[in-house]
Parts: sequence; structure tokens; C-alpha cells
Amino acid sequence: MAKDLDAYWMPFTANRQFKKAPRLLTRADGMYFTDDKGRQILDGIAGLWCVNAGHNRPKIVKAIQDQAAELDFAPPFQMGHPKAFELAERLVQLTPDGLNKVFYTNSGSESVDTALKMAIAYHRVRGEGARTRLIGRERGYHGVNFGGISVGGMVANRKMFGTMLGGVDHIRHTHDPARNAFSVGQPAHGAEFADDLDKLIALHDASTIAAVIVEPVAGSTGVLIPPQGYLQRLRQICDKHGILLIFDEVITGFGRTGNPFAAQTFGVTPDLMTVAKGLTNGCVPMGAVFATQTIYDAFMNGPEHLIEFFHGYTYSAHPLACAAALGTLDTYAEEGLLTRAAEMQAYFAECLHSLKGEPNVIDVRNIGLVGGVELAPLPGEPAKRAFNVFLDCWDKGLLIRTTGDTIALSPPLIIEREHIDRIIDTLRGALKRAA
Ligand SMILES: Cc1ncc(COP(=O)(O)O)c(C=O)c1O
Repeated sequence: MAKDLDAYWMPFTANRQFKKAPRLLTRADGMYFTDDKGRQILDGIAGLWCVNAGHNRPKIVKAIQDQAAELDFAPPFQMGHPKAFELAERLVQLTPDGLNKVFYTNSGSESVDTALKMAIAYHRVRGEGARTRLIGRERGYHGVNFGGISVGGMVANRKMFGTMLGGVDHIRHTHDPARNAFSVGQPAHGAEFADDLDKLIALHDASTIAAVIVEPVAGSTGVLIPPQGYLQRLRQICDKHGILLIFDEVITGFGRTGNPFAAQTFGVTPDLMTVAKGLTNGCVPMGAVFATQTIYDAFMNGPEHLIEFFHGYTYSAHPLACAAALGTLDTYAEEGLLTRAAEMQAYFAECLHSLKGEPNVIDVRNIGLVGGVELAPLPGEPAKRAFNVFLDCWDKGLLIRTTGDTIALSPPLIIEREHIDRIIDTLRGALKRAA
């Protein structure tokens, strides 16, 4: 055990607050963590939107253990290993029709930057090299690398880091509480927010735009569900103007919305799709980008001995990650987890929306097994009320997540009704105490 907690500079953490009152997790199983005091902590957020099959699942654990003893590493450049190909074949059976190529990364942030580079390079290899502009969305979260924060729209994640990528613009976010507060599932109003893309096309001209990237459900900014018809409209505008549509499915992928991917839940297929997190159940870092045959084929030009896409990571298709992902896909399939959110969502929504009327609750949002509860901020102290609720829940043995003044829930997909009851009861108590 470390003597003190000083040496570790923690990511996305209030370091000084944490180190005064640490929250240390030491074990996990199923729906629960255990902390260093031996308390059971109900996991209301699947770790960090990633442990979709619950913790410590035997098939995944064994797959990782066996793989470590068999092939610890294989170089991914000019070399391969069988599980990388087996995994790709299995994955493209789950993706929406047409997304049948897989490029491996190690995180969601890397997947995003890979997809952005693919989009720009795709236009170039097919002779439209002027299409370099990237369009993101206000309040978007696409990880923390320079490409991702450039197309992202969360101010705190951007303002410290200079000018970022040039040639990026943003459409408006879709949060419209005046019309949509307390919508159950997809809000009715706001498809027209997609028309912002037409405005940017009028400003920049389509011939300069490579791609648009959005999260089908914006998670990290506070759970924003796409209005009915919104994603369809984005797809139509992109198609009309030869612009690639990228869905960042890092949190929505692997069952979160009731289908393997949110693209299927909303009936809109992108040209590129980024994933990570649930791909390995969070057990070994891994991400991926799914691309269409058309995009892949555009690169397969020139002499066959030459590399077609100058991009990749030392740990792309790492054997431990591939093994973990295969164990994860087996677990998802055996337990029907990739569609389980569809079965549980009505009960989850009913319980979640029962929080309407609790002190300071100004909106409740949901889709599949994702929930957002937005609170009125404490005057002059944004994010503090929600953080107080987070600390209170932790004291009572529940892990939730907050962003700004929104509480996010994204429990493991193995959740049962009694877990939902306990999450909502604990949260209700904390909301009352935070009043
Ligand atoms: C939509 C989205 N994209 C990208 C990322 C970044 O993933 P990572 O933290 O694995 O780099 C996240 C992480 O939460 C995410 O929610």
C-alpha cells in the first residue's frame, strides 16, 4: 500500500478533495465494487460506462489469463495474430449493415482521432483533397486528444489547450429544456437543430467539409437524447453533400440503448463509427473504428507492397485486448446482454422519472439503460450540488457520476429490478438531503 497518495496526478479528478477523503476501490464482482473498508458499492455507472456485462466475469477473466500465458504481444504493423482477425469477423456481424471493416485502437480518444484522420484521408485518396474541414457539435465529448477536443464542444475540456485543430466548426447542441424537459425517451422537439449543418455548408461550401461527428446520445456532457428525426436529418444532409457522418458510439456501443449499437436503435447508419469501453467490458484498454467497404476500398490503391493508411498504434489489436473482447462478446451473446436494455428500459424509465418533483430536479432524461437527472445549480457554485449528491451516494454505497449539475446513470446491463430500486431510493434520499 502506498504511504500517501501524493505521487499520482489523477485524471479528471478534484485531486486535493480526493486526497483528503479518498475513495478507493479494491475488488469488484457482478453489480458491486468493494472499497478499501470492505463496503459493497452498487455500481450505477458500469465503472465508467464500460463494464456492460458486470464485473469479474469468468469467461473474460479466463480469456485474459490464458492469452497472457500464450502470446503476450504481437507487432501489429506488417504482422498479425489470429484473434485479431477472429474478433473483427465477430464484430462486423454485430454492426449495422455496411460497416464491415474494423481498425483497432486502444481507447475512445484514439478511435475518434483515427476516424477523423480516416475521413480526411478518404476524401484525399479519391481526389477531393480540399475536403478537410471537420464539423462537431456544441457540448460534444469525443475524448481528450487534440482531434477529439477540437470537434468536441465541452468548454472546460477545450479552453486550456490553445487553438487546437484549424478548420473545425460546430453545430448547436440539442438540449432544449423549455420544450423537452422530462421527456420519456426521445424528445419530440428539435429535429431542426440538424439544419445548422445546412448553414455551415452555406458558409464553408460542402466541397471543403470532410465529415460531421456526433454522439448519437451525448453522454459526458450530461445525457442528451437525440430529438425524434434529428439523426435522420443529419444523415440526409450529409448524403446530399457527400459529407461523411461519424457516430461516436464509445458509450452507446455494446448494448447501452437496447441494441448492439445506437445506430440500430435510431435507424441511422453512419459511414464511420467509433467504439471502445464495452468492446472489452472495460477489462483491457481497446477501441475500434468501423468503416464501410467503400471507405476501405478507396484506400486500396497503388502498388500492393506499399502501406495504404499511415496510421496505427503499437498496441493496436493487442492480444490481451483481443482475447478480452472475444470473452466479452461470448458473455454478451450467452446472456442476451446486447438487447437487455430494451427489456429493462420501461422499468428503468418509470423509476427514474419518479424523481420528478424531488428538490431541485429540473429535468430527467432517459434512453435504454442511460439516465440523466439535471439539478438546478447552487447559486454561484455550478456543479457543486450534483457533486454533493455524488458524495452522499458514495457514503450510502452507490456509485453514480456527475457532470456539471447533471447526474448520469449507466448501470451494467445485467442489472435487475431490485438494483434499479436501490439506485433510485438512494438517489432520492441524497437529493432530499442536498435540498
Ligand atoms: C463519446 C465518447 N467519445 C470518446 C470518449 C473517450 O474515450 P477514452 O476515455 O477511452 O479515451 C468517451 C469517453 O467517455 C466518450 O464518451
